[in-house]
Amino acid sequence: MFNLTGKVAVLTGATMWLGRDMAEVFAENGCNIIITSRTKEKADKAAAEIAEKYGVEAIGLPLDVNCPESVEKLAEDAFGWKGHIDILVNNSGGGSGASEGHLFDRSYEAIENMIKTNLTGTIFVCKAVGKYMKEQKSGKIINIGSIAGMVGRDRRMYYNADKMEQPVDYAAAKGGVIALTRDLAAVLAPYNVNVNCISPGGFDKGDLPAEFVRLYGDRTPKGRMGTMGVDLKGAALFLATEASDYVTGINLAVDGGFSSWQ
Ligand SMILES: NC(=O)c1ccc[n+]([C@@H]2O[C@H](COP(=O)([O-])OP(=O)(O)OC[C@H]3O[C@@H](n4cnc5c(N)ncnc54)[C@H](O)[C@@H]3O)[C@@H](O)[C@H]2O)c1
Repeated sequence: MFNLTGKVAVLTGATMWLGRDMAEVFAENGCNIIITSRTKEKADKAAAEIAEKYGVEAIGLPLDVNCPESVEKLAEDAFGWKGHIDILVNNSGGGSGASEGHLFDRSYEAIENMIKTNLTGTIFVCKAVGKYMKEQKSGKIINIGSIAGMVGRDRRMYYNADKMEQPVDYAAAKGGVIALTRDLAAVLAPYNVNVNCISPGGFDKGDLPAEFVRLYGDRTPKGRMGTMGVDLKGAALFLATEASDYVTGINLAVDGGFSSWQ
């Protein structure tokens, strides 16, 4: 049920961190992998490492999700590789960049870029790759949302730990990704294409203030932040495989219970 031998998965912005984790668990279960990055060399390097580690085929392709031509080319090249695209993970996005976190301090440009990269880019890739899935009458789309799109956060956690807060436009974009997932699932269900979302909670990349990690863990039923390399893999594998064939339109929070606790 969890076997992906011979399948092809496209994972956007997946050279590192959560995207890379999902690519690795797919490869571990036999899937051939297409890693995208805005920098082709980085995508190639990650793909080569995965191919060697898991004995699958893997290639890197360039993709800027904000550029329609780049998105169209990615879909065409990804389909052309093996003649099918079985899994798409819309992982490209991210929380803040270098800009200010508070709405009143943010530039209009930063707000627009946040929405473009996290939401518009996800819709673009769903459109371009989804068309091929519709034609082949099969596919699994996994969008990456966030708990930020599900619940408001206690801002004191950021202020007390002296950490830059996450912008509200990030929450808006990820809320859009969750809504997109729900509605697109109904559009693509007649073509045997499942569309689901995973909303991770906070995962620690090792660069957070210790006080923030402590406060976050204290606010989480499981008592800790998510662990890179471990905690997202099971949910991704479930939604990519036959195991979830009757599951579509859901938003699966992988957050240690954060979004369920008041
Ligand atoms: N790390 C967390 O705690 C966390 C929590 C909730 C949700 N998420 C979401 O998970 C996903 C992965 O996050 P992460 O923290 O593992 O790594 P990340 O945020 O560093 O990765 C995002 C990737 O998107 C790529 N990207 C940015 N702009 C792009 C563009 N215009 N075109 C193509 N790619 C672009 C980046 O290069 C990067 O590889 C993101 O969508 C993020 O919003 C992360």
